[in-house]
Amino acid sequence: MNVVIAIDGPAGAGKSTVAKRIADALSYFYIDSGSLFRAITFKVIQSGLDMNDINGIIKLAENSTIDFSNNKVFLDSIDVNSKIRSAIVNSNVSHIAKISEVRDIIADIQRNIALKKNVVVEGRDIGTTIFPNAAFKFFLVASVEERARRRLLELNSSGSNYSLEEVMEQISKRDIIDSNRAVSPLRKAEDAIIIDTDGKCIDDVVNEILFNIKSFN
Ligand code: CDP
Repeated sequence: MNVVIAIDGPAGAGKSTVAKRIADALSYFYIDSGSLFRAITFKVIQSGLDMNDINGIIKLAENSTIDFSNNKVFLDSIDVNSKIRSAIVNSNVSHIAKISEVRDIIADIQRNIALKKNVVVEGRDIGTTIFPNAAFKFFLVASVEERARRRLLELNSSGSNYSLEEVMEQISKRDIIDSNRAVSPLRKAEDAIIIDTDGKCIDDVVNEILFNIKSFN
């Protein structure tokens, strides 16, 4: 297998920005596993399926093609990147991510990419379930308040008008569902290095991770 760098952690811990920067620095392929769950969630919402229709959701996921090009996610050959970050996808994605058959489909997509390329993969279960033998594992953490502040900037810069309290509540709810689900919950792998990102800028976090990778080489 090629080299895998796993970056896990809760919503708003800074995984996406950091993982992209690490992938760029090493010329590795970047996999945003959350965007795969988001793409399926978006398709479920668009299709009008009931969120409780688990069999319908599994069928829909089985009949979907999802892949990456230029760090963007394509659903059935259509660029859905801007559509998958909406508030409605945010509030439904953790329900879709509980379905083990959906997780299996998404696991295959990630493992197939890693068969061909060195990858930086970010998510919730990368170091524990998807790539338990990853060469490097990092677990990013930050307080709920700091994570909500970051997410608020992102959401409101695209025209929304949420309060910090609302975003803190959304994030806490998602943390609870993600950490307590039966299949592949959000959890630090035993051998993952914890990176506390509270009060640190992106450059600091990226340098800390690169330092760790280089000191093992
Ligand atoms: O960017 P943010 O951290 O808000 O979320 P994301 O990484 O796009 O992931 C969205 C949701 O997908 C998470 O809240 C999880 O419910 C689910 N997810 C997962 O279960 N396993 C992963 N490896 C990645 C995401």
